[in-house]
Amino acid sequence: MCGIVGYIGKRKAVDVIIDGLKILEYRGYDSAGLSVFDGKKIVTVKKKGFVGELEKNAEGLQGFCGIGHTRWATHGAPSDSNSHPHLSGKFALVHNGIIENFDDIKRQLKEKGKRFLTDTDSEAAVRLIDDMYEGDVLKAVCGAVKKMKGSFAFAILCKDFPDKVFVVKKQSPLVVGLGEGECFVASDCMAFSKYTDKAVYLKDNEVGVVDKDGLSLFDFNLNKKNFRTEKTDIGDDYRLSENCSSFMYKEIFESPKALQYTAADFFADTATQKQVIDIFSKHDKVIMLGCGTAYNACLVGKNVFEKMLDVDCETELASEFRYKNPKVNSNTLVIAVSQSGETADTIAAVKLAKAKGAGIAVITNVRHSSLTRFADVVLHTKAGAEVAVAATKSYLTQTLMFLLVATLLREGSKVSEEIKKQILKLPQTAEQALKFDALMQKYAKKHCQKQSVFFIGRGMDYALAAEGTLKLKEVSYIHSEGFAAGELKHGTLALIDKNALVIAIATQRNVAEKTVNALHEVTARGGKVILLTCFEKLKDTKGAEVILLPQTGGLLMTAPAIIPLQLFAYHMSVERGINPDKPRNLAKSVTVE
Ligand code: AGP
Ligand code: GLU
Repeated sequence: MCGIVGYIGKRKAVDVIIDGLKILEYRGYDSAGLSVFDGKKIVTVKKKGFVGELEKNAEGLQGFCGIGHTRWATHGAPSDSNSHPHLSGKFALVHNGIIENFDDIKRQLKEKGKRFLTDTDSEAAVRLIDDMYEGDVLKAVCGAVKKMKGSFAFAILCKDFPDKVFVVKKQSPLVVGLGEGECFVASDCMAFSKYTDKAVYLKDNEVGVVDKDGLSLFDFNLNKKNFRTEKTDIGDDYRLSENCSSFMYKEIFESPKALQYTAADFFADTATQKQVIDIFSKHDKVIMLGCGTAYNACLVGKNVFEKMLDVDCETELASEFRYKNPKVNSNTLVIAVSQSGETADTIAAVKLAKAKGAGIAVITNVRHSSLTRFADVVLHTKAGAEVAVAATKSYLTQTLMFLLVATLLREGSKVSEEIKKQILKLPQTAEQALKFDALMQKYAKKHCQKQSVFFIGRGMDYALAAEGTLKLKEVSYIHSEGFAAGELKHGTLALIDKNALVIAIATQRNVAEKTVNALHEVTARGGKVILLTCFEKLKDTKGAEVILLPQTGGLLMTAPAIIPLQLFAYHMSVERGINPDKPRNLAKSVTVE
């Protein structure tokens, strides 16, 4: 986790760094810090809290070369001293990742008389580099990283080289932006996209030197490496307009566009379509995996595949899969889903599956993300930059991608033609669902003091319940659970009393009436029920407040059903005085285990 920014060039480094850190703040916001060369020495400022705090304290700092960091703490509490950059001798270092053997390194250095000032794993890295330094930074860095276990992206300043930023990557992401007489370093190219669209994505086990004229890259044995410069295409999605104060809200409203672009891109991309057909023809079992919302998208995907394709299909939480002994072989196709493409658990799961011979398809929103390097096929969702910690529009595009793949594999069939038509209309259906905004705000005002909210549904609706509950708990901090409607009577019903709110989802014809049965079990115990359904004539819904969703095919009901639930979560968050974009303890991309 965390965001790294570095700069060397003709602008005031502190301005570029602060601006970049604000853009990367979604990656972590426990603390922020920076170091710049002021002409004579390295000056460091670091503060607990948001980048805004750092900005106030870094005002007026001079210099054209520097590094910065916005932290999501893994080792050591969020505090001023545990903030990055960490310092040792002539070095300042920012780190994204975890040094797993930091205790051993620390002990060895302590035995040599070194003092440690923080509780972080990252300090071990800078002290080790400093300890190994004899005038050649790259040599010291390579010697040090060979002793480190875990994941790391570093940006490093050394007092002896005031016009250089040293960079290292192993597992955590790092990208260098090449400008005219200036260069940038960042965890994500959106931090520098307003200055340059030329980017070099570092690969694992690479170390480099960045100066104002460009980048030199090496492996850890200091053999020179070539690199490819990519053109970035970020757009403006990562900035808020003046009339919108929340990324989550803005991104929910971008869903129609995200769905439209994702479908259009897939329909136009015949090369990817061919790859999809080819890879499915070679495998007879599918495992879909991801974490959090991406996993919930897999639950939808499984429903879609089971209804449309004759394929054996399972879903797995990537964080569990990686520590199992999964039954995977060359007949298995793993479909890994990740908005960021940087989630450590998902990457580890994919590596494991690949090592066992599985084919790998990756559904991701970030074209050059780490996960894509392991993929035989990359299915690129076109949701645009998603900044709010809560995934919204990206989830819809992930679920759409499963549908696009299934319709492609059933190309020519009546069902496929019908679904294709519905896919083309999906942006309009999503627009209609956005009209529930005011209603969801009203419900949020009414229910924001509830202690527990339950989401229930069957089949595909159960998958939606899983996402509805995750959204609500992460941005409102209300206890919430999502489960299969038929399971209510097997235990959870004991929690229902007049203080409980149950949100039921009934969008699937074959099980809708069954879900309504469960509602009666709730209202009979005094619980409040909100029912989201697309069926006007459901029997006996009295006692429930009914939200009539726009109609589309059953397999496409994700968008019209989940958008109101995302809006509900957003308004609950606001009503409870929480910043929905930056919920406590979380960060957007979880690049550590
Ligand atoms: C979504 O609202 C969450 N913040 C989280 O569950 C997220 O979906 C998960 O961490 C996976 O991220 P990824 O899609 O970038 O892999
Ligand atoms: N492990 C480091 C820390 O806790 C870096 C975490 C991060 O990637 O932000 O400070």
